[in-house]
Amino acid sequence: MSKGPPTLRLDRLLANLGYGSRREVQRLAVMGLVTLDGVPLRDSDQRIPVTADLSARMTVDGEPLDPPPGMVLMMNKPLGVTCSHKEPPIVYSLLPDRWRDRDPVISTVGRLDKETSGLLLMTDDGALLHRIISPRSNVTKRYDVTLDRPLQGGEEKTFASGEMMLESEKTPLLPVALEVVSPTRAFVTLTEGRYHQVRRMFAAVGNHVTALHRDRVGGLDLPTDLASGEFRVMNEHDISQIFAAR
Ligand code: URA
Repeated sequence: MSKGPPTLRLDRLLANLGYGSRREVQRLAVMGLVTLDGVPLRDSDQRIPVTADLSARMTVDGEPLDPPPGMVLMMNKPLGVTCSHKEPPIVYSLLPDRWRDRDPVISTVGRLDKETSGLLLMTDDGALLHRIISPRSNVTKRYDVTLDRPLQGGEEKTFASGEMMLESEKTPLLPVALEVVSPTRAFVTLTEGRYHQVRRMFAAVGNHVTALHRDRVGGLDLPTDLASGEFRVMNEHDISQIFAAR
């Protein structure tokens, strides 16, 4: 027998999406404010199949249901916010307030520094998060780097060597591709994500990064119409792009 989608009690589903305590969401249901396919669901004990199309079929207080668990977001991270849950200002404050009460929680897929902007993925799907960051998936990250001083010419070879050591680390960096755009601007493509990796690589060759912006993760480009600070829910196609080779 084929297994259907997982089911959750209506009150648990809504409480886990941050709509309130189970008692509060029971009250919303009794008032007829929760509908599925246009029909009010007044009984919050009933089990709801949690399918990807639920947001298109269910409403709460007249609004489409928030995306069910398994949500993946892309954000154009602005400068000045951290990817931490604790060190304000936090990137999570750019999401709707209710989303901070979701269970499972939303986490960033890896981190960008406070002073790095660009494509940041977020998800509540732990298995997907691990698949993206696993070295076995080989998901590359591309950064647009602005430098304080002109490139000297040897950086491309040093970065690509697979022998570059960063201070206080025990293993060399995997090869990193450098595409020079101008004497003080380049694209850098990494497969690893060591702490402050791009900034430390340029510091190691006597330069200084003045601006850092991530514009691609795997085969997924930061959409040009996603303004700084904006985010959107990703669809299956967007997610598959992360793992697509370029
Ligand atoms: N490398 C860095 O130095 N900082 C980032 O935010 C990402 C990569």
